[in-house]
Amino acid sequence: MPNHLDGKTAIVTGGGRGIGRGIALALAGQGARVIVNDFGGNVEGTGTDESPANDVVYEIKQRGGIAEPNYADVSDHRAAEALVGQAINTWGHLDILVNVAGILRERMIFNMTEEEWDAVVRVHLKGTYNTTHFASIHWRSERRGGRLINFTSTAGINGSPGQPNYAAAKAGLIGFTKSCANALGRYGVTSNAIAPGAATRMTDRGRANADATRSGNAESARVAGSERDPENVAPIVVYLCSDEAANVSGRTIGASGYRVSLYSDMEIEREIYNDGPWDLDRLFELAPKSIFRGLEPPSGDLLRTGA
Ligand SMILES: NC(=O)c1ccc[n+]([C@@H]2O[C@H](COP(=O)([O-])OP(=O)(O)OC[C@H]3O[C@@H](n4cnc5c(N)ncnc54)[C@H](O)[C@@H]3O)[C@@H](O)[C@H]2O)c1
Repeated sequence: MPNHLDGKTAIVTGGGRGIGRGIALALAGQGARVIVNDFGGNVEGTGTDESPANDVVYEIKQRGGIAEPNYADVSDHRAAEALVGQAINTWGHLDILVNVAGILRERMIFNMTEEEWDAVVRVHLKGTYNTTHFASIHWRSERRGGRLINFTSTAGINGSPGQPNYAAAKAGLIGFTKSCANALGRYGVTSNAIAPGAATRMTDRGRANADATRSGNAESARVAGSERDPENVAPIVVYLCSDEAANVSGRTIGASGYRVSLYSDMEIEREIYNDGPWDLDRLFELAPKSIFRGLEPPSGDLLRTGA
Protein backbone atom coordinates (compact mmCIF):
# COMPACT_ATOMS: atom_id res chain seq x y z
CA MET A 1 0.00 0.00 0.00
CA PRO A 2 1.39 3.46 -0.85
CA ASN A 3 1.99 6.06 1.85
CA HIS A 4 -1.12 8.04 2.74
CA LEU A 5 0.56 11.45 2.85
CA ASP A 6 3.10 11.40 0.02
CA GLY A 7 3.74 14.91 -1.32
CA LYS A 8 2.15 16.63 1.70
CA THR A 9 3.83 19.01 4.07
CA ALA A 10 2.90 19.47 7.72
CA ILE A 11 3.52 21.49 10.85
CA VAL A 12 3.11 19.83 14.24
CA THR A 13 3.23 22.29 17.14
CA GLY A 14 4.37 20.81 20.42
CA GLY A 15 5.90 18.06 18.29
CA GLY A 16 8.94 17.55 20.51
CA ARG A 17 7.30 15.46 23.21
CA GLY A 18 4.35 13.24 24.10
CA ILE A 19 1.39 13.15 21.73
CA GLY A 20 2.88 15.70 19.29
CA ARG A 21 6.05 13.65 18.92
CA GLY A 22 3.98 10.57 18.02
CA ILE A 23 2.05 12.57 15.43
CA ALA A 24 5.20 14.07 13.87
CA LEU A 25 6.73 10.58 13.54
CA ALA A 26 3.53 9.12 12.09
CA LEU A 27 2.99 11.90 9.53
CA ALA A 28 6.62 11.61 8.40
CA GLY A 29 6.28 7.82 8.31
CA GLN A 30 3.45 8.29 5.80
CA GLY A 31 5.55 10.45 3.49
CA ALA A 32 4.77 13.97 4.75
CA ARG A 33 7.60 16.48 5.21
CA VAL A 34 7.24 17.82 8.72
CA ILE A 35 8.20 20.97 10.60
CA VAL A 36 8.56 19.82 14.21
CA ASN A 37 7.78 22.85 16.33
CA ASP A 38 8.52 22.86 20.05
CA PHE A 39 9.79 25.62 22.31
CA GLY A 40 10.92 23.00 24.79
CA GLY A 41 9.54 24.49 28.02
CA ASN A 42 8.32 22.70 31.14
CA VAL A 43 4.69 21.64 31.63
CA GLU A 44 3.86 25.04 33.09
CA GLY A 45 5.22 26.77 30.01
CA THR A 46 8.43 28.28 31.34
CA GLY A 47 11.97 27.73 30.08
CA THR A 48 13.10 26.83 26.57
CA ASP A 49 15.09 23.94 25.13
CA GLU A 50 15.83 23.18 21.49
CA SER A 51 16.58 19.50 22.10
CA PRO A 52 12.97 18.09 22.07
CA ALA A 53 12.34 19.40 18.53
CA ASN A 54 15.87 18.47 17.41
CA ASP A 55 15.55 14.94 18.81
CA VAL A 56 12.29 14.25 16.94
CA VAL A 57 13.74 15.65 13.70
CA TYR A 58 16.73 13.35 14.21
CA GLU A 59 14.42 10.36 14.81
CA ILE A 60 12.44 11.13 11.64
CA LYS A 61 15.62 11.44 9.57
CA GLN A 62 16.97 8.20 11.03
CA ARG A 63 13.84 6.49 9.70
CA GLY A 64 14.36 7.98 6.23
CA GLY A 65 11.86 10.84 6.59
CA ILE A 66 12.15 14.56 5.95
CA ALA A 67 11.80 17.08 8.79
CA GLU A 68 13.01 20.45 10.01
CA PRO A 69 12.94 21.83 13.56
CA ASN A 70 11.33 25.05 14.73
CA TYR A 71 11.60 26.44 18.28
CA ALA A 72 8.88 29.11 18.24
CA ASP A 73 6.58 29.80 21.14
CA VAL A 74 3.26 29.49 19.26
CA SER A 75 1.62 32.08 21.49
CA ASP A 76 3.90 34.70 19.86
CA HIS A 77 1.97 35.98 16.84
CA ARG A 78 4.99 36.92 14.72
CA ALA A 79 6.87 33.73 15.63
CA ALA A 80 3.82 31.73 14.50
CA GLU A 81 3.84 33.63 11.21
CA ALA A 82 7.49 32.71 10.74
CA LEU A 83 6.69 29.06 11.56
CA VAL A 84 4.08 28.85 8.80
CA GLY A 85 6.46 30.77 6.52
CA GLN A 86 9.20 28.22 7.24
CA ALA A 87 7.09 25.38 5.83
CA ILE A 88 6.04 27.37 2.76
CA ASN A 89 9.54 28.72 2.08
CA THR A 90 11.21 25.33 2.59
CA TRP A 91 8.81 23.14 0.64
CA GLY A 92 6.66 25.54 -1.39
CA HIS A 93 3.36 24.85 0.35
CA LEU A 94 1.65 23.75 3.55
CA ASP A 95 -1.07 21.07 3.63
CA ILE A 96 -1.45 20.04 7.27
CA LEU A 97 -1.42 21.97 10.55
CA VAL A 98 -1.67 20.00 13.80
CA ASN A 99 -1.91 22.29 16.85
CA VAL A 100 -0.79 20.09 19.75
CA ALA A 101 1.27 22.52 21.89
CA GLY A 102 -0.13 22.91 25.36
CA ILE A 103 0.68 23.70 28.99
CA LEU A 104 -1.00 23.38 32.40
CA ARG A 105 -1.31 25.73 35.38
CA GLU A 106 -3.71 23.92 37.69
CA ARG A 107 -5.52 25.74 40.46
CA MET A 108 -9.04 25.89 41.82
CA ILE A 109 -10.96 28.91 40.53
CA PHE A 110 -10.83 30.69 43.91
CA ASN A 111 -7.01 30.37 44.02
CA MET A 112 -6.22 31.01 40.37
CA THR A 113 -4.16 34.11 39.59
CA GLU A 114 -4.57 36.32 36.57
CA GLU A 115 -1.15 35.17 35.35
CA GLU A 116 -2.14 31.47 35.57
CA TRP A 117 -5.33 32.19 33.67
CA ASP A 118 -3.60 34.23 30.95
CA ALA A 119 -0.70 31.81 30.44
CA VAL A 120 -2.94 28.83 29.68
CA VAL A 121 -5.43 30.72 27.52
CA ARG A 122 -2.53 32.31 25.66
CA VAL A 123 -0.82 29.06 24.66
CA HIS A 124 -3.90 26.96 23.84
CA LEU A 125 -6.32 29.49 22.40
CA LYS A 126 -4.12 32.27 21.09
CA GLY A 127 -1.40 29.84 20.00
CA THR A 128 -3.91 27.84 17.96
CA TYR A 129 -5.41 31.01 16.49
CA ASN A 130 -1.91 32.30 15.60
CA THR A 131 -0.75 29.35 13.52
CA THR A 132 -4.20 28.74 12.02
CA HIS A 133 -4.55 32.37 10.98
CA PHE A 134 -1.38 32.30 8.90
CA ALA A 135 -2.02 28.80 7.53
CA SER A 136 -5.56 29.76 6.52
CA ILE A 137 -4.32 32.73 4.47
CA HIS A 138 -2.14 30.32 2.47
CA TRP A 139 -4.90 27.70 2.17
CA ARG A 140 -7.46 30.24 0.99
CA SER A 141 -5.35 32.21 -1.46
CA GLU A 142 -2.80 29.71 -2.77
CA ARG A 143 -3.37 26.10 -1.83
CA ARG A 144 -7.17 25.73 -2.06
CA GLY A 145 -7.06 22.93 0.46
CA GLY A 146 -5.75 21.99 3.87
CA ARG A 147 -6.14 19.91 6.99
CA LEU A 148 -6.45 21.53 10.42
CA ILE A 149 -6.34 19.42 13.58
CA ASN A 150 -6.68 21.09 16.99
CA PHE A 151 -6.33 19.55 20.43
CA THR A 152 -9.17 19.77 22.93
CA SER A 153 -9.67 17.72 26.12
CA THR A 154 -12.29 15.93 28.17
CA ALA A 155 -11.31 18.53 30.79
CA GLY A 156 -13.14 21.07 28.62
CA ILE A 157 -15.98 18.74 27.66
CA ASN A 158 -16.69 17.59 31.25
CA GLY A 159 -15.39 20.59 33.24
CA SER A 160 -12.36 19.43 35.23
CA PRO A 161 -12.75 21.19 38.61
CA GLY A 162 -9.07 22.02 39.23
CA GLN A 163 -8.44 23.36 35.73
CA PRO A 164 -10.81 26.28 35.02
CA ASN A 165 -8.31 28.01 32.69
CA TYR A 166 -7.50 24.81 30.80
CA ALA A 167 -11.14 23.67 30.64
CA ALA A 168 -12.18 27.06 29.26
CA ALA A 169 -9.39 27.10 26.67
CA LYS A 170 -10.03 23.51 25.57
CA ALA A 171 -13.80 24.02 25.30
CA GLY A 172 -13.09 27.24 23.40
CA LEU A 173 -11.05 25.25 20.92
CA ILE A 174 -14.14 23.21 20.02
CA GLY A 175 -15.92 26.42 19.01
CA PHE A 176 -12.81 27.61 17.18
CA THR A 177 -12.54 24.30 15.32
CA LYS A 178 -16.18 24.45 14.21
CA SER A 179 -15.84 28.09 13.17
CA CYS A 180 -12.84 27.18 10.99
CA ALA A 181 -14.75 24.21 9.52
CA ASN A 182 -17.60 26.51 8.51
CA ALA A 183 -15.34 29.29 7.23
CA LEU A 184 -12.76 27.25 5.35
CA GLY A 185 -14.82 24.39 3.91
CA ARG A 186 -15.35 26.30 0.68
CA TYR A 187 -11.55 26.37 0.22
CA GLY A 188 -11.20 22.61 0.60
CA VAL A 189 -10.04 22.77 4.21
CA THR A 190 -11.30 20.44 6.94
CA SER A 191 -11.01 21.31 10.63
CA ASN A 192 -11.40 18.82 13.48
CA ALA A 193 -10.60 18.60 17.18
CA ILE A 194 -9.03 15.64 18.95
CA ALA A 195 -9.75 14.86 22.62
CA PRO A 196 -6.80 12.57 23.40
CA GLY A 197 -5.91 10.31 26.27
CA ALA A 198 -2.33 9.06 26.82
CA ALA A 199 0.32 8.91 29.52
CA THR A 200 2.64 11.90 29.13
CA ARG A 201 4.38 14.29 31.49
CA MET A 202 1.06 16.17 31.59
CA THR A 203 -0.90 13.26 33.03
CA ASP A 204 1.99 12.36 35.36
CA ARG A 205 0.90 15.42 37.38
CA GLY A 206 -2.66 14.20 37.87
CA ARG A 207 -4.03 13.06 41.23
CA ALA A 208 -3.99 9.39 40.20
CA ASN A 209 -0.31 9.51 39.18
CA ALA A 210 1.27 12.07 41.49
CA ASP A 211 2.71 9.57 44.01
CA ALA A 212 4.38 7.43 41.34
CA THR A 213 5.79 10.54 39.68
CA ARG A 214 7.20 11.84 42.97
CA SER A 215 8.91 8.54 43.67
CA GLY A 216 10.62 8.59 40.27
CA ASN A 217 8.33 5.97 38.70
CA ALA A 218 6.29 8.22 36.38
CA GLU A 219 3.65 6.43 34.29
CA SER A 220 4.81 8.18 31.11
CA ALA A 221 8.23 6.53 31.41
CA ARG A 222 6.67 3.04 31.49
CA VAL A 223 4.07 3.07 28.70
CA ALA A 224 6.06 2.54 25.49
CA GLY A 225 4.29 -0.17 23.50
CA SER A 226 1.25 -0.27 25.82
CA GLU A 227 -2.26 1.13 25.39
CA ARG A 228 -1.35 4.40 27.18
CA ASP A 229 1.56 5.07 24.79
CA PRO A 230 1.04 8.58 23.32
CA GLU A 231 1.94 7.22 19.88
CA ASN A 232 -1.52 5.57 19.88
CA VAL A 233 -3.18 8.96 19.29
CA ALA A 234 -1.40 9.36 15.93
CA PRO A 235 -3.17 6.90 13.56
CA ILE A 236 -6.52 8.72 13.53
CA VAL A 237 -4.68 12.01 13.04
CA VAL A 238 -2.98 10.53 9.96
CA TYR A 239 -6.40 9.49 8.67
CA LEU A 240 -7.93 12.94 9.24
CA CYS A 241 -4.94 14.54 7.45
CA SER A 242 -5.39 12.34 4.39
CA ASP A 243 -7.44 13.03 1.27
CA GLU A 244 -9.82 10.21 2.31
CA ALA A 245 -11.13 12.27 5.24
CA ALA A 246 -12.59 15.11 3.12
CA ASN A 247 -16.07 14.41 4.57
CA VAL A 248 -15.05 14.81 8.22
CA SER A 249 -15.04 18.41 9.42
CA GLY A 250 -16.19 20.41 12.42
CA ARG A 251 -16.18 17.32 14.62
CA THR A 252 -14.60 16.35 17.92
CA ILE A 253 -12.94 12.95 17.91
CA GLY A 254 -11.74 11.07 20.95
CA ALA A 255 -8.43 9.20 20.61
CA SER A 256 -7.43 7.39 23.76
CA GLY A 257 -5.41 4.19 23.78
CA TYR A 258 -6.83 1.90 21.09
CA ARG A 259 -10.22 3.65 21.12
CA VAL A 260 -11.38 6.19 18.53
CA SER A 261 -14.68 7.96 19.31
CA LEU A 262 -16.92 10.43 17.49
CA TYR A 263 -18.53 12.94 19.87
CA SER A 264 -22.08 14.11 19.17
CA ASP A 265 -22.67 17.80 18.68
CA MET A 266 -24.33 19.62 21.58
CA GLU A 267 -28.09 19.65 21.03
CA ILE A 268 -31.10 21.14 22.80
CA GLU A 269 -32.36 18.51 25.22
CA ARG A 270 -35.57 20.13 26.47
CA GLU A 271 -37.31 23.41 25.73
CA ILE A 272 -40.22 25.47 26.91
CA TYR A 273 -41.80 28.24 24.91
CA ASN A 274 -44.06 31.20 25.69
CA ASP A 275 -46.05 33.41 23.29
CA GLY A 276 -44.47 36.58 24.77
CA PRO A 277 -42.15 37.59 27.60
CA TRP A 278 -42.22 35.09 30.43
CA ASP A 279 -44.30 35.97 33.47
CA LEU A 280 -41.93 35.21 36.39
CA ASP A 281 -44.58 33.45 38.49
CA ARG A 282 -45.43 31.23 35.54
CA LEU A 283 -41.72 30.49 34.88
CA PHE A 284 -41.05 29.63 38.54
CA GLU A 285 -44.00 27.26 38.46
CA LEU A 286 -43.28 25.60 35.15
CA ALA A 287 -39.44 25.34 35.00
CA PRO A 288 -38.97 22.81 37.83
CA LYS A 289 -41.75 20.66 36.34
CA SER A 290 -40.44 20.78 32.76
CA ILE A 291 -36.93 21.70 31.52
CA PHE A 292 -35.24 21.33 34.94
CA ARG A 293 -37.26 18.35 36.19
CA GLY A 294 -35.13 15.69 37.89
CA LEU A 295 -31.80 17.51 37.43
CA GLU A 296 -29.03 17.24 40.06
CA PRO A 297 -25.94 19.47 40.43
CA PRO A 298 -22.65 17.72 39.60
CA SER A 299 -21.01 15.87 42.49
CA GLY A 300 -17.73 17.70 41.80
CA ASP A 301 -15.63 14.59 42.31
CA LEU A 302 -14.75 14.18 38.63
CA LEU A 303 -11.34 12.53 38.57
CA ARG A 304 -8.75 15.04 37.46
CA THR A 305 -6.40 13.19 35.12
CA GLY A 306 -3.99 16.08 34.76
CA ALA A 307 -4.73 16.90 31.14
N1 LIG B 1 -2.00 13.48 27.60
C1 LIG B 1 -3.33 13.50 27.68
O1 LIG B 1 -3.97 12.55 28.16
C2 LIG B 1 -4.08 14.69 27.16
C3 LIG B 1 -5.45 14.75 27.44
C4 LIG B 1 -6.18 15.80 26.93
C5 LIG B 1 -5.58 16.78 26.16
N2 LIG B 1 -4.23 16.72 25.93
C6 LIG B 1 -3.65 17.76 25.08
O2 LIG B 1 -2.81 17.14 24.12
C7 LIG B 1 -1.74 18.03 23.77
C8 LIG B 1 -0.40 17.32 23.97
O3 LIG B 1 -0.23 17.04 25.35
P1 LIG B 1 0.86 16.00 25.91
O4 LIG B 1 0.15 15.20 26.91
O5 LIG B 1 1.56 15.35 24.78
O6 LIG B 1 1.83 17.01 26.70
P2 LIG B 1 3.44 17.21 26.65
O7 LIG B 1 3.72 18.19 27.74
O8 LIG B 1 4.11 15.89 26.68
O9 LIG B 1 3.69 17.87 25.23
C9 LIG B 1 3.32 19.19 24.95
C10 LIG B 1 4.45 19.82 24.14
O10 LIG B 1 4.03 21.14 23.75
C11 LIG B 1 5.16 22.00 23.87
N3 LIG B 1 4.70 23.38 24.05
C12 LIG B 1 4.01 23.88 25.11
N4 LIG B 1 3.78 25.19 24.93
C13 LIG B 1 4.30 25.53 23.75
C14 LIG B 1 4.37 26.75 23.02
N5 LIG B 1 3.87 27.88 23.52
N6 LIG B 1 4.99 26.76 21.81
C15 LIG B 1 5.53 25.61 21.31
N7 LIG B 1 5.51 24.42 21.97
C16 LIG B 1 4.89 24.39 23.16
C17 LIG B 1 5.91 21.49 25.08
O11 LIG B 1 7.27 21.91 25.10
C18 LIG B 1 5.74 19.98 24.93
O12 LIG B 1 6.84 19.39 24.25
C19 LIG B 1 -1.93 19.27 24.64
O13 LIG B 1 -2.63 20.25 23.92
C20 LIG B 1 -2.76 18.76 25.79
O14 LIG B 1 -3.48 19.81 26.40
C21 LIG B 1 -3.47 15.70 26.42
